Amino acid sequence: MNDSRDLLGQPVNALDTPVLLVDLDILEGNIDRLATFFRQHGVGWRPHCKSHKCPAIARRQLAAGAIGITCAKVSEAEMLVAAGIGPLLVANEVVTPRKLGRLAALQRQTEVIAAIDNAAVLPAMAAAATDAGVVLPLLIEVDLGMDRVGVAPGPAALDLARRVAATPGVQLRGVMGYEGHVISAKPREAKEQACHEALDRLLDTAARLGADGLAADIVSAGGTGCYDITGARPGITEVQAGGGIFMDGMYRDQCGVAALSCGLTVLATVTSRTDRHVVLDAGFKTLSAYHHPPTPRYRDDLKLRYLSAEHGVFDLLHGPGPAIAEQVELLVGYSDSTNFLHDRLLGVRQGRVEEVFPVQGRGLLT
Ligand SMILES: Cc1ncc(COP(=O)(O)O)c(C=O)c1O
Repeated sequence: MNDSRDLLGQPVNALDTPVLLVDLDILEGNIDRLATFFRQHGVGWRPHCKSHKCPAIARRQLAAGAIGITCAKVSEAEMLVAAGIGPLLVANEVVTPRKLGRLAALQRQTEVIAAIDNAAVLPAMAAAATDAGVVLPLLIEVDLGMDRVGVAPGPAALDLARRVAATPGVQLRGVMGYEGHVISAKPREAKEQACHEALDRLLDTAARLGADGLAADIVSAGGTGCYDITGARPGITEVQAGGGIFMDGMYRDQCGVAALSCGLTVLATVTSRTDRHVVLDAGFKTLSAYHHPPTPRYRDDLKLRYLSAEHGVFDLLHGPGPAIAEQVELLVGYSDSTNFLHDRLLGVRQGRVEEVFPVQGRGLLT
């Protein structure tokens, strides 16, 4: 495997494949566009790092104005804190004493908020906080209709918030939710309506907490698929949109995100072909068809048939198709399910490798 230093300055067409690339002009443009949108709407941007898992990219998001970084795992928070990055939101339930101990230890370095949707975990949280001599900041996670995690909005959420407020060692900071079930709704009017109905659940809950004298300073929601709707909704204080910095086929085609450009690609090579199909050296250990298939970036003659472990099989739709040993650049179908397959991400500008981002969060699952 090439040393990172050997890759810097290399022309893209000289790289060994398969390799994960990001177009730096597009990455920087997307970061700037998202940061500007949220700034103009007076709402905080706390981008989820699950799509990139790279401290160096998190730093760029903070430099562009992000108020903090969101992650899904305590181990990701540990990685970010070790890189000097914060404040953080672990937008997930942390429920076991051991992980709560790790979460508590992080508070000595930066604020690391976590989510809670069940009072059963409060005694373990209180114990972890007391043992570490810190306070655990919490958001009540509300089910916005996705039916994944989250306490029911309204009275149940208020009851949980009261219990949090009455527990020593924890601090109620507000509410959060993820309206992931609406991001592909069509047409646009239906999506807006579904998104607002989901957000009503969160905002109604925040209002109940406020009326009860409980802190609901943070009202956090949103992702790339609906960032422009959620970010413009009064009462939302921060948006977790993350993957939009790379963009991908799913956000563009299924979610209709038009203001951002697709910049994440996998460069592959034709290893075999017939007059009906072409095989690339990138299968499901390199690419992902979860949510959305990868598609060729600069050509329309290839369509994914299937991915096996190390072979990407594409139907040849028309014309002669690429030759043996020719490179094909594929736009990633879903950044989140592709990036974590790679040890590093090469930042490319004007056809050359300008930056090497280690995907440091790869494998951090606990
Ligand atoms: C809790 C949470 N927040 C936000 C997001 C949105 O992330 P992205 O903007 O990368 O799609 C997700 C996506 O799964 C999520 O689970």
